[in-house]
Amino acid sequence: MRIKYTISLVFFVALVIIEKENNIISRVSDKLALKQTPQTPLQPSGLSHILPKHNASFTMLSKTNSAFSLIKRRLENYSQHKEVVTRGSKHILLLATTRTGSSFVGEFFNQQGDNMFFLFEPLWHVEKMLTLETGGTNATASAKAYRDVLQQLFLCDFSLLESFIEPLPVNHITTGLFRRESSSSLCQESVCSPVIKGVFERYRCRTRRCGPLNLTMASESCLQKEHRAIKSVRVRQLENLRPLAEDPRLDVKFIQLVRDPRAVLASRMVAFAAKYKNWKQWAIDGEVPIDDDEVRKLKGNCDNIRLSAEIGLRQPAWLRRRYMLVRYEDIARFPMRKATEMYRFAGIPFTPQVKSWILKNTQASKETSGVYSTQKNSSEQVEKWRFSLPFKIAQVVQKVCGPTLKLFGYKFVSSEEMLTDKSISLIEDKVFNFV
Ligand SMILES: *[C@@H]1O[C@H](CO)[C@@H](O)[C@H](O)[C@H]1NC(C)=O
Ligand SMILES: *[C@@H]1O[C@H](CO)[C@@H](O)[C@H](O)[C@H]1NC(C)=O
Ligand SMILES: *[C@@H]1O[C@H](CO)[C@@H](O)[C@H](O)[C@H]1NC(C)=O
Ligand SMILES: *[C@@H]1O[C@H](CO)[C@@H](O)[C@H](O)[C@H]1NC(C)=O
Ligand SMILES: *[C@@H]1O[C@H](CO)[C@@H](O)[C@H](O)[C@H]1NC(C)=O
Repeated sequence: MRIKYTISLVFFVALVIIEKENNIISRVSDKLALKQTPQTPLQPSGLSHILPKHNASFTMLSKTNSAFSLIKRRLENYSQHKEVVTRGSKHILLLATTRTGSSFVGEFFNQQGDNMFFLFEPLWHVEKMLTLETGGTNATASAKAYRDVLQQLFLCDFSLLESFIEPLPVNHITTGLFRRESSSSLCQESVCSPVIKGVFERYRCRTRRCGPLNLTMASESCLQKEHRAIKSVRVRQLENLRPLAEDPRLDVKFIQLVRDPRAVLASRMVAFAAKYKNWKQWAIDGEVPIDDDEVRKLKGNCDNIRLSAEIGLRQPAWLRRRYMLVRYEDIARFPMRKATEMYRFAGIPFTPQVKSWILKNTQASKETSGVYSTQKNSSEQVEKWRFSLPFKIAQVVQKVCGPTLKLFGYKFVSSEEMLTDKSISLIEDKVFNFV
């Protein structure tokens, strides 16, 4: 009876303390948030004086102790969380590989409006330099560089990225940023320095003409925006980005975009003809040397994508509510629905600008009940590869990417006839649970 009473008293007092701590934490983190300084978690102090003063049993004391360390940990969590909540900023990382529609999906965020700072493939520079300097063979070093650059960029700091840009920017000014015009944030008035007559007149930036990019201006503009999004086709393993998810200054949302590997290969054979000339030759010959480096590379890519998705879908604590898997085929068929889901997942309001951009770019018209007409139309696009990829090649992809196909719900084909039979869909309806 007495012990029970004591425990409830202790908890009551502890609750009061938590309430007080929260107030202090909010005030402190408001200040910290304003100053943009990294915050170290606050330690709840002075709790010891409310420990029971009378002689409690040992069990009781240890219970109380563990209760307090729980409270302490919660407070730490709360104070870490609090800064993020105060600022409300979201940091969206769109992870994909080439030919999966990532530029299109990137636009969902690029079109968001004045609230969003969007960067298109900033890691292009990192990959380029590492390939030049080390042949790009050190995967550990690349992963680390990608991670650090992304982390800084989400904090609007361009300094590490700058060191990878060639030629090296002088006074933070560059003409060499990869596809600057693909980022509406970098073509805004506030980031658009005057054109220098003669020298940079060719520099078009969406609707206006801008001089070279002043990265100090870019950084200032970034800091003004509530949310930030980056699209990248270069990160190999989601797990390498764990420090971003755990950075208390960030609220990172990973969106992994995947596509049927058979369709990706078919698309790459057209888009990167020179690089895929072996595959093209094999398609003509009808024979694939299964232990060729190219085939091994394909398997490696599939495995990386699958391993990342497996971690994401497993929902370890560090990824909870931070991971979403999206299939290209679902976006092609239901763009509006999928965009809405992505925004809901990211915790950002879905703006009319995004909506109208999607309508305009998917030929979904209001008259013909929007999404449905898109679905019919895009379904054809989604299945096109089935008529360009020889069955022999599809078989090889199925062989080396089997587990990846299975995980994402892409049906295997067992014959040439099945491959080209439009009445058989190769996309299983699949819901990936991530919230
Ligand atoms: C407190 O309780 C312990 C055993 O539970 C006993 O050894 C000790 O003498 C008590 N101390 C007081 C001040 O009553
Ligand atoms: C604190 O946060 C971590 C990671 O988010 C979580 O695993 C842990 O259970 C939380 N601790 C408490 C006491 O809520
Ligand atoms: C690869 O990079 C890591 C991290 O920078 C480094 O520790 C390691 O020595 C490098 N390995 C090789 C083979 O260069
Ligand atoms: C770049 O922008 C910063 C901040 O607006 C400004 O102070 C600096 O003078 C600019 N640099 C040049 C070369 O215009
Ligand atoms: C799909 O869109 C194209 C291009 O706008 C159009 O020519 C075609 O008729 C559409 N197909 C269907 C089935 O609506």
